[in-house]
Amino acid sequence: MLVGLAWLAGLGAAEARRNYGFARNPNFEPATSIPRLRTSSRGNAAKTLPRSFDWRNIDGVNYAVADVQQHAPVYCGSCWVHAVVAMLNDRLKIARRAAFPDVMLARQVLINCAPKSTNGSLNVGFNGCDGGDERDIYVALLQRENWLPDETCQPYEARNRSCDALHTCTNCMPTDDGGSNCFEVPAFTTYGISSWRAITTPQMGAAEREAAIQEEIFAAGPVVCNFAAIPEFDENYTAVAQQHGGVYRTAANVTSDDINHDIVLAGWGITQGGVKFWVGRNSWGTFWGDNGWFRIERGVNALLIEGACTSAVPTFDALDDELDGAQGGGPLGLAQISPKGERWSHRPGRSSMPPFLAKAHATDLLLQLGEGGQAPPKLGSASLMPSLVALALALALAVSAYAAGAAAARRHVRLDGRAESDGARASLLSGAMGAH
Ligand SMILES: *[C@@H]1O[C@H](CO)[C@@H](O)[C@H](O)[C@H]1NC(C)=O
Ligand SMILES: *[C@@H]1O[C@H](CO)[C@@H](O)[C@H](O)[C@H]1NC(C)=O
Ligand SMILES: *[C@@H]1O[C@H](CO)[C@@H](O)[C@H](O)[C@H]1NC(C)=O
Ligand SMILES: *[C@@H]1O[C@H](CO)[C@@H](O)[C@H](O)[C@H]1NC(C)=O
Repeated sequence: MLVGLAWLAGLGAAEARRNYGFARNPNFEPATSIPRLRTSSRGNAAKTLPRSFDWRNIDGVNYAVADVQQHAPVYCGSCWVHAVVAMLNDRLKIARRAAFPDVMLARQVLINCAPKSTNGSLNVGFNGCDGGDERDIYVALLQRENWLPDETCQPYEARNRSCDALHTCTNCMPTDDGGSNCFEVPAFTTYGISSWRAITTPQMGAAEREAAIQEEIFAAGPVVCNFAAIPEFDENYTAVAQQHGGVYRTAANVTSDDINHDIVLAGWGITQGGVKFWVGRNSWGTFWGDNGWFRIERGVNALLIEGACTSAVPTFDALDDELDGAQGGGPLGLAQISPKGERWSHRPGRSSMPPFLAKAHATDLLLQLGEGGQAPPKLGSASLMPSLVALALALALAVSAYAAGAAAARRHVRLDGRAESDGARASLLSGAMGAH
C-alpha cells in the first residue's frame, strides 16, 4: 500500500507516456475501405442492433472467460498480447456455445515468441514485454497454423523468455533429491486463427465506426481496439465514472501518438440518463475499475477507442479431436490413440440444474438458510437432505463472512444517470483540461 501510494505520488510529466504495451508496426498498410457486415435477410445489421448488449450476460450465460492481469509479478507491457488473447478466448467460448472447456490461450507463449514488429515473423530477439502491434500476432498465428497452446502449457511470468519448445509447453517432475526437473512437452492441444480483419479506421465517420464495432461485436464477439490510456483513466477511472452515471467521460485531447494500450470491447449500453457507453475489458486486474472492466462513453471516439479496432476468428480443431477421443495424454503430452484402441468421447454429458437451484436464486436460498439454519421447505427427496443442508450451510457461512468483511468496501455506482449534471460535467472538463 505504502509503495503504491509512493508510486502514485511520484508520477510526473513522463508519466503521461507510460506504455502498457502498444507499439504500432508502421509496415502495416492503413486499412482503407472496410466491408460492413450485412445479412441478406435482414439488410444492414445496424437496424437490428439491440439498445444494450453484453457478452457477459446473454440470457443468463457469461461468454467472457476469466480475467487476468498483465503487470505482475513484474511490470510487463503486454497489453497487445492480453487483448488478443481475451478476444480469442471469448470468441472460442461463443463459437462453442459455452460448452466445456473454457479455454485460456497462453499469453506467455505469445510474449516468448513475440512476432517481430518489423515484418510479422516470429521473434527472435524481440521482447514481448516491450509492447507490440496486435496485427503482428494475427499474422504470426496465420503463418504457423495451430501452434498456440493454452495457459496450462506455460504460465504467465510477465518476463521475456526465449521462443523454443521448452518455453512453449513445459512440465516438471520431482527429482530424487527433492529438486525439480523440467522438460518440454512435445504434443499439446493447439489453437490458431483462420482470418483477421480491421473493423474501423481513423478516417471513418463517427457514426459509421460506432455501427461497425457494434455489428462486429453482435455478429462475431468481442473486438480488440487501440486506446490512449491517459493517467486519469488509469488512476481515477472509478471516481470519474461515478460522476457520470457509471460511465467514464473525458474531453481530453489525444492524438494517435498517445495510443499506448490495447483493450477489448465486448458490448454496449445506455444509462437511464442517456449516456451511451461501451462495455470494455481491461487487463489490469479485477481490483481495477468495474471488476477489471470499464464503461466508457460511446460514439465520440473517446481516447481514440473507436479509431482502430480489429478481430480474428479462432480455430479449435485440435480441441475437438481431443474431446472426441482421438488423442489422450499423460505427463509427457498428448498421444494419438492407437488405431486398435477404442475411442471414448469425453465431452461432458448434458445434465439438469438441481431443482432447488433452478427455482430460486441461490442467494434467496442462502438467506432463508442463514436465519436459524433452517432448511427451506420441500427440498425434494429426504435422502438428499443432509448433504444439501450441509452444502447450503457452508455456502451461507461463506456468504455471511464475506458480507461482514466486504460491506464497507462495496461501491454503489449508480447507473440511473441521476449523478449526471452539467455542473459535474463542467468540473470534469476543467479537471481534464488542467491535466493535459
Ligand atoms: C523478418 O525480420 C527478421 C529480422 O530482421 C529476419 O531475420 C527475417 O528473415 C524476416 N522475415 C521475413 C519473412 O521477411
Ligand atoms: C524485456 O526486454 C526488454 C529489452 O531487453 C527490457 O527492456 C525489458 O525490461 C524486459 N522486460 C521484462 C519484464 O523482462
Ligand atoms: C486523480 O484524482 C485525484 C483526486 O481528485 C487528483 O489529485 C489527481 O491529480 C488525479 N490524477 C489524475 C492522473 O488525473
Ligand atoms: C481540443 O482540441 C481542440 C482543437 O485543437 C480545441 O478546440 C479544444 O479546446 C481542445 N479541448 C481541450 C479540452 O483541450
